[in-house]
Amino acid sequence: MNTEQQLATWLKSAFIAACGEEASELSIRVTPATDTKFGDFQCNDIMPLAKKLKKPPRVIAEAVVQALPLPPSIQKLEVAGPGFINLTVNPTWLAEQVAALSAAPRFGIPKEGEGKTVIIDYSSPNAAKAMHIGHIRSTVIGNAIDRLYRALGYQVIADNHLGDWGTQFGILIQGYRTFLTEEERAALTVESLERMYVQSYNRTQEDPAYLESCKAELVKLQQGDPENRAIWQRFVTISLDEFNRVYKRLDVGFDLYRGESFYNDILPETISLLQEKGLAVESEGALIVNLEADGMPICMVRKSDGGFNYAATDIATVRNRVTEFTPDRIVYVTDERQQLHFKQFFKVCEKLGIATSSLLPSPSSLPHLEHVWFGLMRLPEGTFSTRQGNVIKLDALLDEAVSRALKIVQESNPTMSAEEQRDLSEAIGLGAIKYADLSHDPQTLIVFTWEKALALEGNSGPYLQYAYARVCSLLDKAADQFGKLDMNTCVLRLDTPLEKELVLKLLQFPGTVSRAAELYRPNVLADYLFSLSQIYSSFYQQSPVLKSESDIRNSRLRLCFMVAQALQEGLTLLGIRTPRRI
Ligand code: ARG
Repeated sequence: MNTEQQLATWLKSAFIAACGEEASELSIRVTPATDTKFGDFQCNDIMPLAKKLKKPPRVIAEAVVQALPLPPSIQKLEVAGPGFINLTVNPTWLAEQVAALSAAPRFGIPKEGEGKTVIIDYSSPNAAKAMHIGHIRSTVIGNAIDRLYRALGYQVIADNHLGDWGTQFGILIQGYRTFLTEEERAALTVESLERMYVQSYNRTQEDPAYLESCKAELVKLQQGDPENRAIWQRFVTISLDEFNRVYKRLDVGFDLYRGESFYNDILPETISLLQEKGLAVESEGALIVNLEADGMPICMVRKSDGGFNYAATDIATVRNRVTEFTPDRIVYVTDERQQLHFKQFFKVCEKLGIATSSLLPSPSSLPHLEHVWFGLMRLPEGTFSTRQGNVIKLDALLDEAVSRALKIVQESNPTMSAEEQRDLSEAIGLGAIKYADLSHDPQTLIVFTWEKALALEGNSGPYLQYAYARVCSLLDKAADQFGKLDMNTCVLRLDTPLEKELVLKLLQFPGTVSRAAELYRPNVLADYLFSLSQIYSSFYQQSPVLKSESDIRNSRLRLCFMVAQALQEGLTLLGIRTPRRI
């Protein structure tokens, strides 16, 4: 049980002692105090009981506060306002609590997901196209959610649902035959594929016969023609090699790379099932699911030319995932423009009885479907968009971040070896990009600027990396001067308000990780880390460490050590490296 849960358990017994069994069904929560002038924690859950007992909340609060002798954890209980309870805890107890976190694996992140399986479908770019900056959010946010769930003990299956099937492959295959020389075919890259696609696509717009030939190539591919299959396979392999290079650089990994093509063979039976259940009906040659009663436009599952579409593939994918992995949840991370698509096919899956997207806990324990969408990233000049032609390639963006970071590193560490400088700038540059993305609520629009992303002050990746490295260097200095300490034997003394505040903040780490995961919002963790490092920085400015008497020094060093632990765990959960030296 974490600190808040322990306090809540005791408080609940006080509620029962004061009000009788009526209180036993209440959910009593204890949360960090909003104003630490009046206590360390607070409880605001008296209202429902007051209603039930038809008594003023303040009267109940007074009774609760006096009902039982205080336990060793609590120093003072006070009633405030119309009926809140403020709790001031015992510093010795607080010190024990934080010491337990520090000794626990991963700073006490609860293994609350044990036995549960979550599939996370993220990044999922389209083959034969270079990943552009729009893909960074799905990759970075998806990967942070992946790391959060794994840390909480869930079995996570990260699945890259590549767009490797669909009409564009007819255009690509015909383009390959028409526009590329032998040499160009041999030296194919994602970039040349993309250029060739544009050329071929333009031709389809001007030349109806050419368009027909593209469609014919697509049909051949879908029917398993060996030559077209081989060409398609090369397109996919080339794309994957390129994507994997970027993933490796970003330290992102997947358990599965099942593209849309993986589900091709089960599309017909999926559609038949929809028909048998009376869900899919013919309409103007196409097959559709009517979602009018659910307040949504129709969901097309087969086009009038007989081709299956994106929704059909996604429904088939859910069927496959559910039977193969029996997940508790399937989480999809994409940009906001796909919201309707997900709502629609989630609803179809619900009607099929294979999954649910409702927020209420489902009695049938069906797997829960969740679409985590994010707003598009903007440069001050406008949206990053393929259509507007101002595409910034992901790779180019990362290179730019690293080279900007290198300048900073060279200035601040002129004596460092060139190799170390390069490695450090990779950590800082990529950390800056990731953090710029993760420190915002995913559903807000981000205006990206280099100045903000790479700022050494303020809420940025480099700021937190520096904060971590500074704590490490302080600990190293202390070890040099006074010998290496066994942190676990240093007695924690929480004498000053800032020391106490720091510990109270550290105690929030495990709960913050749970909340960030539950809300699918890595920014909850980013905000926490930033605020922790701000408290640390005030503590450090006001509380001499190395110049203090040995018992105070050791206590403070242990506090610093714990801040380093939390920062290190937290940044790792966000996929951000933590060099010890910057
Ligand atoms: N390939 C799609 C795109 O780039 C994203 C796929 C998301 N996942 C899914 N199961 N639909 O827009």
